[in-house]
Amino acid sequence: MSKLSRKQAGSGPRIPLAKRAAEIPAGALGSLRRKAADCRACPLWEHATQTVFGEGPASAAVMLIGEQPGSREDLEGRPFVGPSGHLLDQALHDAGLDRSALYITNAVKHFKFASRGKTRLHQRANAGEQAACRRWLAAELLRVKPRLLVGLGAMAAQTMFGNAFRISHERGEWRELAPDTRGLATWHPSALLRLRYAQERDARYAELVGDLQRVARALDAG
Ligand code: URA
Repeated sequence: MSKLSRKQAGSGPRIPLAKRAAEIPAGALGSLRRKAADCRACPLWEHATQTVFGEGPASAAVMLIGEQPGSREDLEGRPFVGPSGHLLDQALHDAGLDRSALYITNAVKHFKFASRGKTRLHQRANAGEQAACRRWLAAELLRVKPRLLVGLGAMAAQTMFGNAFRISHERGEWRELAPDTRGLATWHPSALLRLRYAQERDARYAELVGDLQRVARALDAG
């Protein structure tokens, strides 16, 4: 870790994942984004179109952390712009949160897929790929210093709270991550899209919106 990044690590939120990151790049968000575009820390860059870095104001009080970009995000270079992004937008709207005020990113910043003819099938990044990417999320956390973190899905939740975290049991509960930083995890929109029965989908959607409303209330409470 460089002198500067060690200093930043000390002054930012002491979130376990920032401590676990091998090397935390320094710089403003624009500079981090440019550096991440050339990241070769794991093999995922090779087949992906581009790095999908986080987006949103550096002053955001809330950071939303997804899992990894999908095919649409890979092509556009922006997080949550595909089908799960549309559902997320709807849930944010229903919860009274303004997407443009949030910082939105992913635990892993490259699309991982298997090609089946012309189709690119999403594949989950493995533990090594997740660990290699942790430096970028740690760097984003240190720059943005959000008060509230929201993990979408199990990968994001375990990145925030450790591998023992079970989203099915601990969803929607605030946890202290540092004296001035807390986080909760909730359902990933793409998990909802995969549900076959409308009744179950509606119930989970209501839980997702309920969790995001908790975030909106915490934001309003200051
Ligand atoms: N799923 C994610 O976790 N992130 C995205 O950006 C898109 C889909």
